[in-house]
Amino acid sequence: MTSRRMVLRQLLALFAGSPLVGTRLGAGQEAGTVYPPAYSEEVMRPVNLHEFEQAAQKKIHKLAYDFIAGGAEDEVTLRANREALNRIFLRPRVMVDVSKIDPSVELLGKRMDFPILLAPTGGKNLVIPDGDRIAAQGAAATKTIYVVSGGAWIEKLDRTGGPPLWWQNTTGQSSRSAAESYARRSEDSGCAAICVTVDNPYQSNRERNNRNRFDYGYMQTGVPGDEVSRQKPRSPAVAAMLQPHNPNMTWRYVDWLKGACSLPVVIKGILTAEDASLAVAHGADAIVVSNHGARQLDTVLPTIEALPEVVAAVGAKVPVLMDGGIRRGTDILKALALGAKAILIGRPYVWGLAAFGQVGVQRVVELLSAELVLSMGLAGKPNVASIDRSLVRPAGGL
Ligand SMILES: Cc1cc2nc3c(=O)[nH]c(=O)nc-3n(C[C@H](O)[C@H](O)[C@H](O)COP(=O)(O)O)c2cc1C
Repeated sequence: MTSRRMVLRQLLALFAGSPLVGTRLGAGQEAGTVYPPAYSEEVMRPVNLHEFEQAAQKKIHKLAYDFIAGGAEDEVTLRANREALNRIFLRPRVMVDVSKIDPSVELLGKRMDFPILLAPTGGKNLVIPDGDRIAAQGAAATKTIYVVSGGAWIEKLDRTGGPPLWWQNTTGQSSRSAAESYARRSEDSGCAAICVTVDNPYQSNRERNNRNRFDYGYMQTGVPGDEVSRQKPRSPAVAAMLQPHNPNMTWRYVDWLKGACSLPVVIKGILTAEDASLAVAHGADAIVVSNHGARQLDTVLPTIEALPEVVAAVGAKVPVLMDGGIRRGTDILKALALGAKAILIGRPYVWGLAAFGQVGVQRVVELLSAELVLSMGLAGKPNVASIDRSLVRPAGGL
């Protein structure tokens, strides 16, 4: 019987061939061979992104786990994001020279080693104090674009791990002057783009949180250790159900941002061709097809099924990105085949952070990018330009 350790070793040997997982040479290592990073045995134990979730779940409070893992209401879309990806099958090509595999892409004028970004996720303090700073360092170490969620600002983040590539995320400001000063602050602080989340006018109905009497204040403080303080939530989730975030935000908000700074504006949370076209008409520089990880309106389309219509509407004008349920290199292949320029991951890197801190974030990115490289090699696609729609078999309305 093959032991878990042997499987792990085989996997590492496999991934050691990837240019993405190599580090500096250590004692006894040979030039010309790419070695996986030297992480502890514990960090190397999860062999895929799913297993990072299990590792994280063992370490964090149930309220924190449910907050991160959960979706809205019946979680129909949460399941559908994964199911829709799994319904698509690949049509690999053979006898193609894949001795060199290049997963790099250019996005908004910047070269990226691979088409993976870290999505904005609020509430990292639920899993580790100072979670945004630590996650940003993990992103910097892997040269991944980090989309800093609304409450946090990269200015405050430690840059010792290298200069982070980052986009500032916002759910909007209600007045023109506030929007303009937000745009200027983003520009002055050195971010590369502003990412506007447009699917969040109200706090959604997340029943795991309601059941747990989750207090949204814990997103800043972490879950209190003692039962008594948890019994007296300051803002019970039940009340949060109808809590407005920014319900009067319209497309003119994008006009305000565009008029106040020269940063690219990325619109996150688009699921229809109509809204994609409007976003571009108002100056959007990129679109993220997203259903907020199925955390806002339940029963909306899984993102991989919304992607083709958005690409058809605006893909020739601006880059279209996608997130929601991406857990495997093959998921990325499918998104790229259907016209995405890049993908974002949310929960997986938060699980990495929860399980192992900064190196957990790094390992998640490295595993996923290594899987992508391997999948490209096995599919006969030596570079991103060679990935097109012929790689996927049309299924269920695609
Ligand atoms: C814990 C958590 C917090 C999130 N917070 C935000 C946020 O503040 N702003 C936002 O635009 N999206 C937020 N999202 C959605 C993510 O940006 C992203 O769209 C989603 O997680 C992608 O799906 P995935 O988790 O299946 O990869 C959050 C997601 C999670 C899991």
